[in-house]
Amino acid sequence: MPQPTIRPEASADEAGIRALNEAAFRGNVEGGIVDGIRGTDRWIPDGSLVAEDTDGAVVGHLLLSEGDLVGIDGAVIRRIWMLGPVAVLPDRQRKGIGRALMRAAIELATDRGQPLICLLGHADYYPRFGFEPARGIGIEPPRPWRDANWMALRLPAWEPGLRGTARFPPAFPG
Ligand SMILES: CC(C)(COP(=O)(O)OP(=O)(O)OC[C@H]1O[C@@H](n2cnc3c(N)ncnc32)[C@H](O)[C@@H]1OP(=O)(O)O)[C@@H](O)C(=O)NCCC(=O)NCCS
Repeated sequence: MPQPTIRPEASADEAGIRALNEAAFRGNVEGGIVDGIRGTDRWIPDGSLVAEDTDGAVVGHLLLSEGDLVGIDGAVIRRIWMLGPVAVLPDRQRKGIGRALMRAAIELATDRGQPLICLLGHADYYPRFGFEPARGIGIEPPRPWRDANWMALRLPAWEPGLRGTARFPPAFPG
């Protein structure tokens, strides 16, 4: 079967992205996050990626958005990229679509000179893409999440002095 094409979302994809997230997560929380970030200053141009099947159906989606890295004084040090949600239609999972979306997201962040990508996710999925426990490199989670689930990927523009506490965009549930 030919692999889906990875491309940035277009406005015609919005309903498909919502339906896909609902199917993959069995609920409307994650789709609501995507809708809640779209149109805000936390939205990254071309940072909402879809996997499009040969028949035009959206079978996978990944969102990159802008969070903040905050210092101990509470001041924002810089914006940082957050990854998630990422979803593949249940009957298309484990066929490499998630991997293709992840690679495209990492390439985009690298091309845009980002130092890192942060996420909260499955401890056994993301390390294969180079993600590691974020606290180990000085990036604290917004809440006391388990080290295994709070992860970051260092990109070529990473500098060891970059340390602080991450904050997700407000559309993520508190
Ligand atoms: C997680 C998800 C996005 C992965 O997408 P996918 O297309 O199924 O993944 P891929 O086929 O690219 O998988 C790549 C590798 O990861 C493995 N993998 C897939 N899902 C996994 C999971 N949930 N946990 C651990 N490993 C997983 C695959 O077996 C494959 O391993 P291999 O390279 O050794 O064969 C998808 O399964 C999904 O939508 N799940 C439901 C929603 C969800 O949990 N999203 C992530 C929230 S953190």
